[in-house]
Amino acid sequence: MTLIAHVSDPHLADDGGRSAGRVERVVDYLRRLRRPVDAVLVTGDIADHGLPAEYAAAKALARVGVPLLQLPGNHDERSAFRQALLGSAAGAGPVDQVARVGDLTFALCDSSVPGRDDGWLAPATLAWLDGVLAGGAPTFVCFHHPPVTIGHPDMDRLRQFGEERLAEVLGRHPNVVALLCGHIHSATVSTFAGVPLLAAPGVASTLVLPWEGDGWLDREAPPALAFHLYEDGRLTTHYRLVP
Ligand SMILES: [Fe+2]
Ligand SMILES: [Fe+2]
Repeated sequence: MTLIAHVSDPHLADDGGRSAGRVERVVDYLRRLRRPVDAVLVTGDIADHGLPAEYAAAKALARVGVPLLQLPGNHDERSAFRQALLGSAAGAGPVDQVARVGDLTFALCDSSVPGRDDGWLAPATLAWLDGVLAGGAPTFVCFHHPPVTIGHPDMDRLRQFGEERLAEVLGRHPNVVALLCGHIHSATVSTFAGVPLLAAPGVASTLVLPWEGDGWLDREAPPALAFHLYEDGRLTTHYRLVP
C-alpha cells in the first residue's frame, strides 16, 4: 500500500505569519499520523508572489520527513522555484519532473504559463509526458490547473486550456491511475479523458461556490488536504480538514 498526502496552494506570503502558520498546521498534522505518508505532493501556488523569501518559508514542508513532490502554479516563478525547492539552476522553461514512490510513478507537469493565470501544457511537456507514460508503470499525472470546468465561472476562465492535446496523450496509455491537480482551492472530484481527476483543497483558502455565496475564496475555512491510498491496483481518496 502506498499513501500520499496531497496538499496545494499554500500561497506563502509576507502576511504576518498567516500563510506560514497554516503550513505549520498541515506539517504538524502529518507528523502526528500513526502511519507516516510515503510522500507529500504539493500541486502549486507554493509562493504567492514567486519570491525567494516565500520559497524559504516553504522549506517547512520538509519537516514532515518524507519525500516532497512539488510542482509550480500560476503564482510561482520558475527560476526561483527551481533554485529554492529543487536545488537546480535558474531556468525559464517548464519545470517537468518525474518521481517514483514505491511502484508508482508521478509525472509532475508544469501547466503554468509565465505572466498568465490560466494554464497550458507546452508541446515539450506533452512529449515528455508521453515518454514517461510509455514506461508502463502505474502513473499519477499531476499539474496545477485542472483541464476541465468545475461550475465556477471565474475559476473556469483560469483552467488549463488546450486540453484536447492532453487527452490525446492520455488516450495512448492505459497506465494512468488518476490526474491530480490544485489551483481551484476545493476538494473536487471529476473525470477527464475517462480518468479520475482529483483536486486538492487549498491550504490558504477554500473556493466559494456560486450557490454558496459571493466572492472567490473563504480565508476563514480551515486548511484541508487529500490522502490518496493506492492498494491492490486501486485508488481510494479521503479528504480531510486539518485541525
Ligand atoms: Fe491558488
Ligand atoms: Fe493557481
